[in-house]
Amino acid sequence: MKKILTYCAIPIVTMFGAYLGYPGFTAHAGDVKKIYKDTCELCHGADGKGSEAGKQFQVPDFTNPEYQKSRTDADMKKSMTEGTKNPNYVKLSDLGVDAADLEPLIKLVREFGGK
Ligand code: HEC
Repeated sequence: MKKILTYCAIPIVTMFGAYLGYPGFTAHAGDVKKIYKDTCELCHGADGKGSEAGKQFQVPDFTNPEYQKSRTDADMKKSMTEGTKNPNYVKLSDLGVDAADLEPLIKLVREFGGK
């Protein structure tokens, strides 16, 4: 009986190790909080107001209701996929962000505005 248990334990440990070792496998398209933290925070700041660097690049303040009102989701989508007139703006594809994450990211940006 003991032997069987040992045999079983190995694949379980291996699987668990793979699970922990390769978060890329398990990160799904909805994991936008992580994407924001890893990719967007640099310019937009953890609070959505814009980091020091971001302010120099003229990022909008996502917490400003006036700003939120001034942009439709379609406007944002266009900026994020095609870039803007601002040369400091980097398109999502150039940031290595999947297009599938576009809508959830916009939702996240809207949440900074209190929605
Ligand atoms: C290198 C700095 C930088 C990074 C990184 C960055 N942004 Fe931006 N972002 C900007 C700048 C600059 C603007 C303002 C562009 C403009 O006014 O034309 C902007 C504007 C935006 C806007 C508003 C677009 C609009 O039409 O109003 C959204 C939404 C946005 N960023 C989302 C993101 C998301 C999501 C990420 C991460 C995947 C991200 N940004 C990463 C610099 C950055």
